[in-house]
Amino acid sequence: MPTATPDPIPVASRVHGFSYAIRNIVAEAKKVEAAGRAVKYLNIGDPIPFGFKTPAHMLEAVEKAMRDGHNGYGPSPGIMSAREAVADDFTARGLATTPDRVLLTAGTSEGIEIALNALANPGDEVMVPSPTYPLYTAVTAKIAAKTVYYRTDPKHGWLPDLDEIRSLITPKTRALVVIDPNNPTGAVYPEPIRRELIGLASRHGFVLLADEVYGDLAYDGPTPPMARLDPDAPVISFGSLSKAYLAPGWRAGWMAVGASPRLTDVLAAVMKLADGRLCATVPMQYAITAALRGDRSHQVTFRQALRERADVTVARLNAIPGMSCVAPTGAFYAMPKVDLPPGRTDEDYVLALLREAGVLCVYGSGFGTRPEDGFFRVVFLASPAELAEIYSTMAEFTRTYLGR
Ligand SMILES: Cc1ncc(COP(=O)(O)O)c(C=O)c1O
Repeated sequence: MPTATPDPIPVASRVHGFSYAIRNIVAEAKKVEAAGRAVKYLNIGDPIPFGFKTPAHMLEAVEKAMRDGHNGYGPSPGIMSAREAVADDFTARGLATTPDRVLLTAGTSEGIEIALNALANPGDEVMVPSPTYPLYTAVTAKIAAKTVYYRTDPKHGWLPDLDEIRSLITPKTRALVVIDPNNPTGAVYPEPIRRELIGLASRHGFVLLADEVYGDLAYDGPTPPMARLDPDAPVISFGSLSKAYLAPGWRAGWMAVGASPRLTDVLAAVMKLADGRLCATVPMQYAITAALRGDRSHQVTFRQALRERADVTVARLNAIPGMSCVAPTGAFYAMPKVDLPPGRTDEDYVLALLREAGVLCVYGSGFGTRPEDGFFRVVFLASPAELAEIYSTMAEFTRTYLGR
């Protein structure tokens, strides 16, 4: 006897507003692989698959913590020795802070989610750069806050347009997201711009969320924490072991809530929300102490390697007819632009590049740029020789795609 198919269980409507192109596009790449074509993955900013190694003293710290029996839950805000290490590190970089204002998190991702939950009611506005790292818009979609994009301009080294930001501020603005050094553009903001952004947060009474996960990966050397420019400004600073300490899988990060008395309630709200998730991964918190108090010479080598790869990327992509690429000055991303034929989108180009040439990038509209503008993001962690080969493939494909 035929049985009626039961109705599907409905999912919450917030899921429909949630999108994460960097990972979503992998499903397409798997199909291409299943059809027999090898794929070069230039989509996820993880240095480990490209041969970069987590420093040995951090591995030892995690192993020792596990062997010493630190495998139970820890305090919700994090173990004190690591919170102290984070506070001392900020202080050494010119931003005096104390461990009681530091929360250890499952990467900056968790810190960002907690902070936005602590700050924004449904309908409140969060200013986010365009293009942006998509976690921000994914979280605003979840909490029903409104994303207000502010432009960063490729014609001016992908710097933010301060006049536009000023014009976007309303009484509902609760936070301004600043990613510096930036993913996806590789821009590093000069001090006057940072100072102006901080001034806006102070004057208008919203929080500046300073995403400094790439702070040690500016090619000219570490950028100081933004909040240093005005320690009384309402700034929350975020960092992690993921990028500059080469341990993204450990999900170990931190946030420091600025010393401004205006942030007292926010700090309490952040700590309250953190109680609900018990704690961040405990053995990895021991590695935070090891990383921030130990040898960082790997960062010198890593920065050199990134600069070299950025140079290859910029030279090779700018040599492709119909393509242009602003030179990154930090991190491991570039945001080239292809002059699309009318009617085509960035996603069309990226999918064709994947299916026909086996190179996976992420389309710019996944980061908030307009589909017709033809931006896409490249992660340049592969070796310079491999990158050169990949860019040759891209050049050949793009010539045909654009009919040049
Ligand atoms: C700008 C930015 N912020 C945050 C993150 C998340 O990093 P974490 O591993 O610390 O959660 C990333 C990861 O790519 C990033 O690019």
